[in-house]
This record gives sequence, C-alpha cells and structure tokens, in this order.
Amino acid sequence: MKNIAILTSGGDAPGMNACIRATTRYALAKGLKVFGVERGYTGLIEDQVRELNSRSVSDIIQRGGTILRTARCPEFETIEGQEKAVATLKKYKIDALVVIGGNGSLMGAKDLTTNFGINTVGIPGTIDNDLQYTDYTLGFDTAVNTCLSAINNLRDTMTSHDRISIVEVMGRKCGDIAMYTALCGGAENVIVPEVELNILDISKRLTENAAKGKNSDIIILAEGVCHAEELKIMLKGINPKLSIRCTTLGHIQRGGSPTMMDRQLAAKFAIRAVDLLIEGKSQRAVGIKDNEIIDYDIVEAVKMKRKFNNALYEQINILSL
Ligand code: ADP
Ligand code: F6P
Repeated sequence: MKNIAILTSGGDAPGMNACIRATTRYALAKGLKVFGVERGYTGLIEDQVRELNSRSVSDIIQRGGTILRTARCPEFETIEGQEKAVATLKKYKIDALVVIGGNGSLMGAKDLTTNFGINTVGIPGTIDNDLQYTDYTLGFDTAVNTCLSAINNLRDTMTSHDRISIVEVMGRKCGDIAMYTALCGGAENVIVPEVELNILDISKRLTENAAKGKNSDIIILAEGVCHAEELKIMLKGINPKLSIRCTTLGHIQRGGSPTMMDRQLAAKFAIRAVDLLIEGKSQRAVGIKDNEIIDYDIVEAVKMKRKFNNALYEQINILSL
C-alpha cells in the first residue's frame, strides 16, 4: 500500500473537512502518498485528481462543506462509468480509495471492490443518520444542533404570539434529525416517515395543550412525510382557528462549523480507515457502535435495513405532555 485517494460524495455534511484533514495527515504520517479527488465520483470519472500534502488540509477542521467538493453522479452507477473511474485510479497508481459519504456513496465504493477488486473503505458522512450499521454518521450532530438553535428562536416568538410552529427538517426517509431535534428541543410533536401520520391525533394534542395552558406548540416534521405547508392545510382543515406558521430549515442544516462530536468522529473514523488499509483490509465501512469505533463488511453495511427507535419516539411524546 503506497498511494491512497480520498473523495467526498453525495450531500455534503459538516465534519467532512475534518475527516479529509485527519485521513490525509494520518496517512502521510504512515508514509503513504495521498490524492484528493474533486467532486466525488464525477471527479474520478473526469480525472480531477490532485496530490494532497499536510498544508493542503490546513485551516479546514472548523469549516463545513468539503474542500474536495462533492457531487451526485448517475454515470457512476453504470459499469461504463465505473470503468472510467477505475482507469483514473490506475493512472495515478492509487492502491486504495477512502469514500466519505452516505448510503449511495458507500454502495459506489462496494461496486468498485466487488466489480473491479479496488481496495475501498467507506466513512459514513451524511446529516441523515440513515445507516443502520453505525449509531452516528458524520454531520448528524452538527445538523441537529443547527435545528436546535432555530427551535430556540422560534419558541421565543411562538410563545409571545400564542402560535403553533411547524418546522420541516431534512433526513430523506429517515426521521432521526426530526426525533433528536424534538427530544432535545422540547417539541410538542414529532412527525416521522417511520410512523404513519395521524392528523386527528396531532390536532387533538394541540387542543389538549391549549386547554393545559401551553401557549406555544412546536411540531417537528421530517421532510420524508410531507411539506410544512401541506401539514398546515391539513390541520387548518380540522380547526380553521389555529394560528400556524411554517419554517423549512432546508440547506442551513447542511452547513456550519462541525461540533466537537463530529470533529472527534471525523478523526477517529479517519484513523480506523487508514489503519484498515495498511493492514490490507478492504471493503470495510467504518462506524461507531456503543461508543466504540467499529468496521463492518461494506456489502453487509449498505444492505442493513434501518431499525426505527420506537421506544425513543414514545418517550419524546411523553416528555412533551
Ligand atoms: P449519499 O451518498 O448521501 O446517500 P446519493 O444516494 O445521492 O448520496 O449517492 C451519491 C452518489 O453515489 C451517487 O450520485 C452515485 O454516484 C453513487 N451511487 C449511489 N448509489 C449507487 C449504487 N447503487 N451503485 C453505485 N454507485 C452509487
Ligand atoms: O442526504 C442529505 C440531504 O440533505 C437530505 O436530507 C435531503 O433530502 C437531500 O440531501 C437534499 O438534497 P439536495 O442537496 O440535492 O437538495
């Protein structure tokens, strides 16, 4: 093992830069040459590769986004696209590739190994926290903290006006951003794709809360269910008197300086990834389970069906009574 390359792929996530930095510096310290691939698999197909040294990754640990930039690349999902990517890896004599990204990106890494025998290691980088094999993905903690900061502001104004706030958060088909925002932000309701929407139940809770003397309600809505404005129409359909305001946090959740949690995950994931490659282990996905850094067969990791934490969902509802 002499030369490795790093790429970031899919939606960017805070902590990706800290992870590029840690991977680069740890690999350099172990005597490896490091290349950075621009714009994910697109850069691999289009030969956008540059060598990274220690200075290339200075002053980025605190920055959101990714200095390597990222992309979604449908061409890479075809064998022809993957052949072009492999040709670039061969051109630079790259022995192994570290892929930082979500489920789709890790499937791409898996394809490179299973179809072409390329050594790969996947690092979970996505705000969605939608990978079952790891308790946390890089960027999730920062994204939830960004949501919490928004909830704090919204609570001030909703309480002053006796209003209901619907806050739409990201997460694709996964409700984790919504669940942890609701848990830690003291929201009155959380609506996630994993639980069937019961609009009558939510409306009833709003009425009960008003009767109890609550003078604001925050409903955290995961984007995988519906849009905030659609939920507002449904609720107003039941009770037209409700005073509801909608906020869609959108891509604000994807940026920002990574938290301590994401920076330490970035460092620990990077170190494990490089160690695995040096030990000659490939086709692994790095993660964290019960506070221990782990690695998993990447094929198994991407296949694993996400389990919903129903107990936590119930507890959030109890705490918001
Ligand atoms: P994420 O990695 O955040 O889940 P995407 O699902 O958009 O984001 O995937 C990012 C990229 O990974 C895709 O644009 C594509 O290049 C690659 N990819 C996704 N799914 C596959 C797949 N099944 N096989 C090969 N590559 C894939
Ligand atoms: O996967 C990360 C994510 O931010 C999802 O939560 C969201 O659904 C999607 O990416 C948004 O994608 P785009 O950046 O293409 O708008």
